[in-house]
Amino acid sequence: MPNVRVAPSILSADFARLGQEIADVAAAGADFIHVDVMDGHFVPNLTVGPVVLKAVRAATRIPFDVHLMIAPVDPYIDEFVAAGADILTVHPEAGPHLHRTLQRIKAAGAKCGVALNPATPAAAALEVLGEVDLVLVMSVNPGFGGQTFIASQLAKIEALRRAIDASGRAVMLEVDGGVNPDTAPKVVKAGADVLVAGSAVFRGGKSAYGPNIAALKGGK
Ligand code: DX5
Ligand code: ZN
Repeated sequence: MPNVRVAPSILSADFARLGQEIADVAAAGADFIHVDVMDGHFVPNLTVGPVVLKAVRAATRIPFDVHLMIAPVDPYIDEFVAAGADILTVHPEAGPHLHRTLQRIKAAGAKCGVALNPATPAAAALEVLGEVDLVLVMSVNPGFGGQTFIASQLAKIEALRRAIDASGRAVMLEVDGGVNPDTAPKVVKAGADVLVAGSAVFRGGKSAYGPNIAALKGGK
């Protein structure tokens, strides 16, 4: 599967050794570090904010792909970019003015993405396809790692692949949730080019991270 990138979600990392875990997956072949930011309001879980992002940013030079599951989102954009976010991805439901939020992310100096929950139609991203660097299709309901892949999202990935190709723009198509060596080939066949994976990367200890990432890329 050529040109597929893997973004390990640190949600499944050992948070007591977070900086080292990030360095280890980067050395093992990760393309991005995926940071899941949750506020206990937009999603039923709490994780980390810009303070932690800033603390671990020096662990690697690869891009930090920051998935914001928070509402409101606009007041925190500058802080996340200052902390080292390279890509900031937001959900349309997080605020009343998605287009404005995307402009604010770009003005702050980061790339921007739009994330679609399983019940959010592809159309929510199509209206801003000309503005974004990335579209994220959630293949689980956001909030927790280790959930089961929702196969109905494959049709949405296919529809978005067609729309991105038709647009002629270089928009990444990322899939997040339940991605493992069984589901990854289906996701890539449907048109995704960035795979987020938490539990499928951070299992088996440090020596397994390289093979785990390679397995998602179709290596073994
Ligand atoms: C869920 C997060 C995902 C999650 C993926 O809300 O956005 O990034 O951590 O975990 P796995 O790969 O274990 O499904
Ligand atoms: Zn995520």
